[in-house]
Amino acid sequence: MGKYRINGLRRLEGTLQVQGSKNAALPILAAALLVPESTVHNCPELSDVEAAVHILEELGCRCHREGGSVTVTAGECLNSSIPEALMREMRSSVVFLGAMIARCGRARISLPGGCELGPRPIDMHLSGLQKLGVTVLDDRGYLDCRAANGLHGARIALPFPSVGATENIMIAASVAKGMTEIHNAAREPEISNLADFLNAAGARVQIALDGTVYVEGVPKLHACEYAVIPDRIAAATYLCAAAATGSRLQLAGINPIHLTACIPLYEEAGCTLRMEKNSLELYAPASLKALRMVRTMPYPGFPTDAQAPFMAMCCLAKGTSVFVENIFENRYKHAGELSRMGAQIKLEGRVAVVEGAARLHGARVECTDLRGGAALVIAALAAEGETVIDEIRHLERGYEALERNLCALGADIKKLENGEDFC
Ligand code: EPZ
Repeated sequence: MGKYRINGLRRLEGTLQVQGSKNAALPILAAALLVPESTVHNCPELSDVEAAVHILEELGCRCHREGGSVTVTAGECLNSSIPEALMREMRSSVVFLGAMIARCGRARISLPGGCELGPRPIDMHLSGLQKLGVTVLDDRGYLDCRAANGLHGARIALPFPSVGATENIMIAASVAKGMTEIHNAAREPEISNLADFLNAAGARVQIALDGTVYVEGVPKLHACEYAVIPDRIAAATYLCAAAATGSRLQLAGINPIHLTACIPLYEEAGCTLRMEKNSLELYAPASLKALRMVRTMPYPGFPTDAQAPFMAMCCLAKGTSVFVENIFENRYKHAGELSRMGAQIKLEGRVAVVEGAARLHGARVECTDLRGGAALVIAALAAEGETVIDEIRHLERGYEALERNLCALGADIKKLENGEDFC
């Protein structure tokens, strides 16, 4: 597996064009199953996006990438099951379920196992789809889903604003007969991006001010093209790297509104931020201040995906920072690896207490998951000496051209292929 070798204590400087959002691109590619031909612009080059394209091809679609645009020609429904290997490769492939059922009247997927973040149940996805007329049969670890009489609208109230469940239901409802209401729906920007893509294809999706999603089903969707929004989590990650290394960084091509919950925390840490309509500049202080309390919440609250990058930043801050992870059961695996670099982190259930260290030192560490890996990169950029980060396949799932981007900003980072020697 590839590794990164990073020599720390170098300031970053410059402007970075932020990638398209992984978490917007994946549901949009799933919805492309229902569109005769669609072109998805600003689609990031990531292994998770590649996995989604493989699933589309497995389901009978033709896909073609030209630069940042992916064109999907849906073609006929040749297959309605996702091979287990592909399901395991990307846990979020469950988001294809609604589109597959809407397109072929049935779908067979293996139950997505857990992942690095703990168990990843899909009960809300399934109960929502059942309300739309889907029957679900648990067939020895496979889910056999059918809509024998087609899909019909329904009033659905989610017990938790699940992002994936909202997306699955919205996609299936777009071509169901009648009106669907999704109450307590997720309100992440990626949900609106999906709604906009569906509407560009002729769907009738409306999101009310209270977040309720109204979908008036249409018989079928038509060809369209649409752009993926900027990746707010990648943006937050680079800003944490700039803050941790005492740098000045400008991010271009972002929507600062999507970072509303993060911005006050950068300011509490002592950073100065300047925002324009589509850009944001961060000036880091000579030394960071601790963050009293960081609670992860559904959007518009502080995003769980930014918890690990912010924790890495707080490892360098003066004082004690407290994190509460309210979304996932087991999202502190990066703490152990950060401790190998001298970080002082105590874990108690959903709470993590970070004692800011004067200095981190380089070490050999291993990515535990996508955002945990990002935390290790941030820590390595700010650490004294050399760090080697293993299992960087996790990072390649969600960060486009990470090594090239950081090098361009002045970081000393090199990808070591298998067997390349490193001291
Ligand atoms: C999406 O995951 C994102 N992934 C995650 O980003 C993100 O952390 C998460 O939303 C929360 O914002 C993609 O968009 C591809 P959820 P998703 O359904 O849809 C529980 C990253 O790093 N739950 O909102 O899986 C679930 O176990 C990834 O880019 C149920 O109990 O998140 C979790 O505890 C990681 N039953 C909580 O809800 C269900 O049926 C939130 O899950 C569904 C979810």
